[in-house]
Amino acid sequence: EVHQREYLVNGEMRRWDGEVSEVYSPVMIPQADGSLKRKLIGTYPVCGEYEAMEAMEAALAAYDNGRGEWPTMSIADRIKCMDKFVYKMIEQRTLTIKLLMWEIGKSYADSAKEFDRTVEYINATIDGLKDIDRHSSRFEMAEGLIAQIRRSPLGVVLCMGPFNYPLNETFTTLIPALIMGNTILFKPPKHGTLLHYPLLEAFKDSFPKGVVNTVYGRGAVVTPGLMATGKINVLAFIGSSKVANDLKKRHPKVNRLRAVLSLDAKNAAIITKNADLKLAVSECILGSLSFNGQRCTAIKIIFVHKSVADEFLKLFSDAVEALKPGLPWTDGVKLTPLPEPHKPDYLKECIDDAITNGAKVINEHGGVTAGSFVFPAVVYPVIEKMKLYREEQFGPIIPVIPFEDIEEPIAYQIDSPHGMQVSIFSNDAKEISALIDPFVNLVSRVNINSQCQRGPDVFPFTGRKDSAEGTLSVHDALRSFSIRSLVATKLNDANKQ
Ligand code: G3H
Repeated sequence: EVHQREYLVNGEMRRWDGEVSEVYSPVMIPQADGSLKRKLIGTYPVCGEYEAMEAMEAALAAYDNGRGEWPTMSIADRIKCMDKFVYKMIEQRTLTIKLLMWEIGKSYADSAKEFDRTVEYINATIDGLKDIDRHSSRFEMAEGLIAQIRRSPLGVVLCMGPFNYPLNETFTTLIPALIMGNTILFKPPKHGTLLHYPLLEAFKDSFPKGVVNTVYGRGAVVTPGLMATGKINVLAFIGSSKVANDLKKRHPKVNRLRAVLSLDAKNAAIITKNADLKLAVSECILGSLSFNGQRCTAIKIIFVHKSVADEFLKLFSDAVEALKPGLPWTDGVKLTPLPEPHKPDYLKECIDDAITNGAKVINEHGGVTAGSFVFPAVVYPVIEKMKLYREEQFGPIIPVIPFEDIEEPIAYQIDSPHGMQVSIFSNDAKEISALIDPFVNLVSRVNINSQCQRGPDVFPFTGRKDSAEGTLSVHDALRSFSIRSLVATKLNDANKQ
């Protein structure tokens, strides 16, 4: 068990003696009476508005209107701080991975991947910064002026990541924001809080005081007040669009707030009659069920051409049934318990609603639930009035819709409030090229014969409509957390040569 009694503000690990929140693992332990109970794995501070404001003041003071030590530090020195942080972070690898498994139920392989991918992302960000190098940036000359273009920080950034990638997604905003010279308020997600604890010392020891500060407590209590101060310059949030909109609305001058958001999505896979079905099945399994479908980039609905629907459903259901369920540390495990306590009930509701409206669960164990564990359900045929048609299930249910005319999935995407990704499966080059244009103007990434995914991390990661605001990726994030500014000098006889 990890009992966290400290939080990081103004370069100090402060002791917290107030209310704590108990953290229960999705891993359930059988009780004497035969029931299952989530295992208590630790506690963390439930700080209040006062502590959130302290963190805010520390971040503001460290930024000091752009005159602080951090925003004025040379890029080479900032990189030294970041290198030190990476070194200290790697020392915590084993513990962080263990906490990832226990806190959110991610398999060992995926937890290790999340940790290592994050380290790689930080190193790539450091290289990206070298490219940008705001101090010795390029010069442009025009109309008797020399302009030195710089990349300047924006101020105080509030970073909030999601439970599904609590380390990676939090850091893919926090790290670029930090390295560009901003100061940080960082609120870990509700599920996925403890795993950040071992890293707080690393932040404390690697950066000047007040540059990275934590905000613990109930989101609904501590974050609205922070936004209402009007002193947050960037909101970096990965989660639901409802929460993002609520937070944005609190800012008194929303036009002065930059938002970098990755939000809801309902990514479709389209299997045409010309698809390689075996390939489509293996990619759709990865796309829809990696980490039990709990990814913003997951495939959340499949359209299959009527002529190949039976064959696809058979192959796909067999592949789902072959996935290995188990606890996160089991070798080769593909399906693990779900961290959100309400999720099994919600998924059941979706399945029941589909059945009431005429669909079937195609695979033998689909929807079988044991405590926090739900076996994936392939639901067919899904129609418009079902919850699964539009709702983002964010879990192990795969709704499948048969189509006759390719205009049907296109119409679905046009009507959708989301626009993150799509996957198109076809072996006909003409058909593929005819589909790229309609989709590339509706979603931010079209995957041909491959699953939906964020990586590799050098690729731009964003979405249209309600799915995102701003763009992340190693290079784009550095731009998202900075602004181009310039020093324009009038040419005179002395500097003309
Ligand atoms: O939840 C959204 C993640 O950014 C997905 O990342 O596609 O690499 O799993 P991924």
